[in-house]
Amino acid sequence: MSDSLTIRRPDDWHVHLRDGEMLTGVAVYTARQFARAIVMPNLSPPVTNLPAAQAYRKRIMAALPKRIDFTPLMTCYLTDGADSADLARGFEEGVFTAAKLYPAHATTNSAQGVTDVEKIFPALRRMEQIGMVLCVHGEVTDPDIDIFDREAVFIDRVLDPLTREFPQLKIVLEHITTEQAVEFVLSAPDTVAATVTPHHLMIDRNAMFDGGIRPHAYCLPVAKRERHKQAVRQAAVSGSPKFFLGTDSAPHARGEKESACGCAGIFNAPHALECYAEVFEEEGALDRLESFASEHGPRFYGLPLNEGTVTLRRGQTKVRKQIAAGEERVVPFRAGESLGWVVE
Ligand code: NCD
Ligand code: ZN
Repeated sequence: MSDSLTIRRPDDWHVHLRDGEMLTGVAVYTARQFARAIVMPNLSPPVTNLPAAQAYRKRIMAALPKRIDFTPLMTCYLTDGADSADLARGFEEGVFTAAKLYPAHATTNSAQGVTDVEKIFPALRRMEQIGMVLCVHGEVTDPDIDIFDREAVFIDRVLDPLTREFPQLKIVLEHITTEQAVEFVLSAPDTVAATVTPHHLMIDRNAMFDGGIRPHAYCLPVAKRERHKQAVRQAAVSGSPKFFLGTDSAPHARGEKESACGCAGIFNAPHALECYAEVFEEEGALDRLESFASEHGPRFYGLPLNEGTVTLRRGQTKVRKQIAAGEERVVPFRAGESLGWVVE
């Protein structure tokens, strides 16, 4: 077995970089591992138009060291009043790479999300015409639906009908967590793909209750049963071009997580690649890491593959217990643990 693995530089097709001091503290971790990243627009207030996206992109670049080679790919937060013309202009000008559908109240900063998907049909029609990708947070928000079923129910009630209504629209079902999501994506047309996070490949729902309540293992969609984790792992390592890397790294200040009502989100950016490598190795699929991390995503989005390479070497990476972001501290995924790969 080889002691190092060199792959084409990867991209992160779903990340939260935040704003202000948090942005300054966390952006570098994503920019170190990835050439490009699809940046989520769920700021407060959200990034709902072209000028807001241009300004946010500038703040991201200003938060990074000068010589780092990183391109943020911006997304537009869809609201009930989404403006098709602004979306199309943003896409044609190369500012928006995609638009994001958050069902209203599904997750962090989604209060201004979409209350009924039919409200954004005009925007989706336009996106379908111009080839702009729709990123989807796939959970229903109906409190009567058990939280562990919200992804599967969303697929039946919203996503499946949507793919029929818009057969040419490119859709990414983000951060999949269930066997239902895997089956849906596999049976859907080529216009439908999914991103997979490191944590949903590594933890099942027991991680949230391991000897006590574990707020740093809580994210949305929430981790599911082991059986679902296994289905997601098989999909990720299968070599299918429908599955690609999207960390959903979602930092929150330590105090916001370790609270009576802790925020959803796992901060995995510092060592995302090492985690994916560990999973692919466990599944005997290290030879497929490159296509998952660096090829399927750009091909789906219709973007060029990156030119450079990154090398992972066997060795010990110690994950820090916490990371500073201004005055705040953020606890990374697998804090305090040792990982078996080092990114050079
Ligand atoms: C994300 C966040 O904190 O912005 N949280 C999460 O648990 N993943 C929002 C999201 O992607 O759902
Ligand atoms: Zn997210």
